[in-house]
Amino acid sequence: MAQEDIFKKLVAHCKEYGYVFPSSEIYDGLGAVYDYGQMGVELKNNIKKYWWNSMVLLHENVVGIDSAIFMHPKVWKASGHVDAFSDPLIDNKDSKKRYRADVLIEDFILKIEGKIEKEVKKASKKFGDSFNKEEFISTNKRVLSYNEKIQIITDRFSKALNDEDFDDVRNIIIENNICCPISGTCNWTDVRQFNLMFSTEMGSTADGANTIYLRPETAQGIFVNYLNVQKTGRMKLPFGIAQIGKAFRNEIVARQFIFRMREFEQMEMQFFVKPGTEMDFFNKWKQTRMNWHQALGFGEDNYRFHDHEKLAHYANAATDIEYRFPFGFKEVEGIHSRTDFDLSQHQEFSGKKIQYFDPERNESYVPYVVETSIGVDRMFLQIMSAAYCEEDLTKEGGKKDSRVVLKLPAALAPVKLAVMPLTKKDGLPEKAREIINNLKFDFNCQYDEKDSIGKRYRRQDAIGTPYCVTIDHETLEDNTVTIRNRDTMEQERVAIDKLYEILKENTDLKSLLLKV
Ligand code: GAP
Repeated sequence: MAQEDIFKKLVAHCKEYGYVFPSSEIYDGLGAVYDYGQMGVELKNNIKKYWWNSMVLLHENVVGIDSAIFMHPKVWKASGHVDAFSDPLIDNKDSKKRYRADVLIEDFILKIEGKIEKEVKKASKKFGDSFNKEEFISTNKRVLSYNEKIQIITDRFSKALNDEDFDDVRNIIIENNICCPISGTCNWTDVRQFNLMFSTEMGSTADGANTIYLRPETAQGIFVNYLNVQKTGRMKLPFGIAQIGKAFRNEIVARQFIFRMREFEQMEMQFFVKPGTEMDFFNKWKQTRMNWHQALGFGEDNYRFHDHEKLAHYANAATDIEYRFPFGFKEVEGIHSRTDFDLSQHQEFSGKKIQYFDPERNESYVPYVVETSIGVDRMFLQIMSAAYCEEDLTKEGGKKDSRVVLKLPAALAPVKLAVMPLTKKDGLPEKAREIINNLKFDFNCQYDEKDSIGKRYRRQDAIGTPYCVTIDHETLEDNTVTIRNRDTMEQERVAIDKLYEILKENTDLKSLLLKV
């Protein structure tokens, strides 16, 4: 099945099983804003806990905060967001649709990459076992010319963005015949810069209201609290401050479900270090964060680093951790070495000294910062894309059978255990409730007595529940149950007394944290 179709099915699945709903759906939704349902909120909370514990519990020099969404307007002037937090946008005059010029160009490059992949697949089929992919890519004329084209466009586009030469960005679009997918024409307006921050007003207009912004990143709440935390926590460099919270961006092109949203959540950590040591910490955090992703068990080949060639003016190194989504490799997390830019700017704009007294050097300086920044919603989508499976269970010569199963890492699954009485009588429901009442303090359990056991298993597979137990008449006699494993579908008879141990060993967050 085409990856695009799988993605459409995943979006429908998220809605059908209470993971993600369009916001204000009864009013036909609101562009790029989504709500999390009864299952979604549990998965989201588990992702946040996995991140928070890996940062704050596992690092004694990382502490957390929770800063306000509203901040003094000067914060965004100092950080550069008022002047420079913008995307280049372009409108198609025929369809009246608005696009991000950079996304149009990136999508065009992706299409060329798709053509290369097709050539590789064709050749691999033709040559079979003797096929050497690397040799083919470096010698095949068509592939070489595609790669050359990609390089020329990428270089010219990077230069145009660096020089803020938006006429040339438009020329790249027109010269490559990049058309509007709706109208199919290349009738484009000029490229203009569009600030992504949402603004509102604080105080009544009569009082002289102040324009304030909904924060576009949580990081600035950390920077402005650097001194508070350093002093009250008696923190010594190097140390980090972590935060999880909402961020808002008026994205021009909000697409691909919860990949790019206008209201989303970030998990960010700013690590303050001595100037000159930042590259060591940048490399260390790069690895630590990659380990965090790969501990989920979705396959190392599905992740890669994408080091930035074009750096923001305040950064001296930056990389993205990318995951192979159904629509290609895309950024999930950014790791940035932000120098002393942010703290120095706040020092200048606030007029307050924001420094660290280093007892070893006997001097004060503005610390450098290495940042790790990941979107909760994007991580959610990454996990759902990786976990969604359609399995054919048809046995040879048997009736057609299949299932949809969410192979979520057990520690992140919303429900850890479903408890199912075989029938609704003979004391089986009471026994099932007794089991839940004992386990519910430690594990999220679900009681399910409706429909056949087979249908109940399918329902639990579809929401990703790692274990189901069935209560039957034997249970009443010997206190044993049948436990079924979601992934293998194997069943075994175990004592009720063993359930806590099984769940603890296999679904506890600790099992994931030990791998980071
Ligand atoms: N403080 C640095 C910062 O905000 P960023 O690369 O703009 O860096 C970091 O964002 C992460 O936040 C991204 O890697 C992505 O996971 C998430 N993110 C950014 N914009 C988003 C959006 N519109 N919708 C969902 N997630 C987003």
